[in-house]
Amino acid sequence: MVQAPSRLAQARPVPSIITEIPGPKARAHVAYDETWTSPSLPRAYPIVPIRGEGLTVEDTDGNLFLDFAAGIAVTSTGHSHPQVVAAIKEQAADLIHFSASDFYLPIYAQTCERLAKLAPIKGGRARTYLGNSGAEVVEASIKLARYTTGRPYVVAFLGAFHGRTYGAVSLTASKAKYHGQFGPLLPGVYHAPYGTVENLKWFDDVLFDKLVPANEVAAIIVEPIQGEGGYLVPEAGFLPGLRDLCDKHGILLIADEIQSGVGRTGAMWAVDLWDVKPDILLSAKGIASGMPLGAMIARADLLESWTAGTHGSTYGGNPVACAAALATIDLVEGGLVENARVRGDQAMAGLRVLAADYPALIADVRGQGLMIGIEFDSAQHAEDAQWACFQRGLLVLECGKSSVRMSPALTVSEDEVTTALRIFGEAVAEIAAR
Ligand SMILES: Cc1ncc(COP(=O)(O)O)c(C=O)c1O
Repeated sequence: MVQAPSRLAQARPVPSIITEIPGPKARAHVAYDETWTSPSLPRAYPIVPIRGEGLTVEDTDGNLFLDFAAGIAVTSTGHSHPQVVAAIKEQAADLIHFSASDFYLPIYAQTCERLAKLAPIKGGRARTYLGNSGAEVVEASIKLARYTTGRPYVVAFLGAFHGRTYGAVSLTASKAKYHGQFGPLLPGVYHAPYGTVENLKWFDDVLFDKLVPANEVAAIIVEPIQGEGGYLVPEAGFLPGLRDLCDKHGILLIADEIQSGVGRTGAMWAVDLWDVKPDILLSAKGIASGMPLGAMIARADLLESWTAGTHGSTYGGNPVACAAALATIDLVEGGLVENARVRGDQAMAGLRVLAADYPALIADVRGQGLMIGIEFDSAQHAEDAQWACFQRGLLVLECGKSSVRMSPALTVSEDEVTTALRIFGEAVAEIAAR
């Protein structure tokens, strides 16, 4: 039995649902929110959180939820981990902002060094640029790739999600609605089929043969495991094959580890699973446990070609976000990568048993570590499962066309996985019985 952490409602089991869902205060808040916020925000379901600790989230009506969505795979150390909170408080009391773009912030450089030493960059010598979000460092990587190679074209993959700013959304190809009515997008972007060794032939047979010469392609950007595209794990030879292809043609390989990085897959970086070393690695989401931070870790020789003013940001690498990142990396290196692997195996084993019980409803269970996708037979059933879990106090999130993802904090316990599996099983049983 999972118990509520001490800071949240006294000794109650988690989840603990004490109102209808959404409750009266949540419903009132949703109405207020919908008056003032941008309707473009793709809200998954009406949870109104006010407090979190570990994997427990308390909503405005006092309900306790078990969080297997982690703020879209962000709160890697759980909600408000005491070490992260302490680091944030200490840094905020000393200095909240100064702008690393124009001045010399010690914690900014320390974070850059830590990340450069942590990421498996080709050639071994790396430097880091810090921004505020995933999309921001995707933008930085396109600029760096074009600038250093002098080549105009960039290739991303069908199903990819790289963010919503103009350059990033031009690379994104997971849903047509992300492009609708926004064109023309960034020119010079192509999309390749993802995930299999066979699909890599598309580069020689189609792209380089019929569309653009290989020596005009600056970079190929890839999610080592596709996130929003459906938690798709590529074939074993795919990423190594892509690395070879890039080496053959002098193309930079950019690994977008914004969702898959920082221990989530049971390896520090997903590329480590296939022993692939990119030229540029992008991180965000889990890197600072929820503080806004993005990192572009790149071959030092590439970043050294940039001159003063070529790229920067007022807030990027804010000291408080850096403090959260350093505390997060301490925790992730201190055992959370291993925990993600072990708890991921536990979850996957339980979900495979469930899938065998409901072969008509669950089409596939896949993933690595705590990046787990459960594919249903239809988009409607994936949505139904997400809602049925929410009603029972388990937070999960849809992805792809007809999948639900589980991406809990890397601190998740054996009991929490057992509880999540039980609730997910009940949700699936309810849908099957309809
Ligand atoms: C793989 C990947 N890249 C980029 C992004 C964009 O990150 P952000 O939302 O911080 O701009 C995301 C966000 O979901 C992502 O999953």
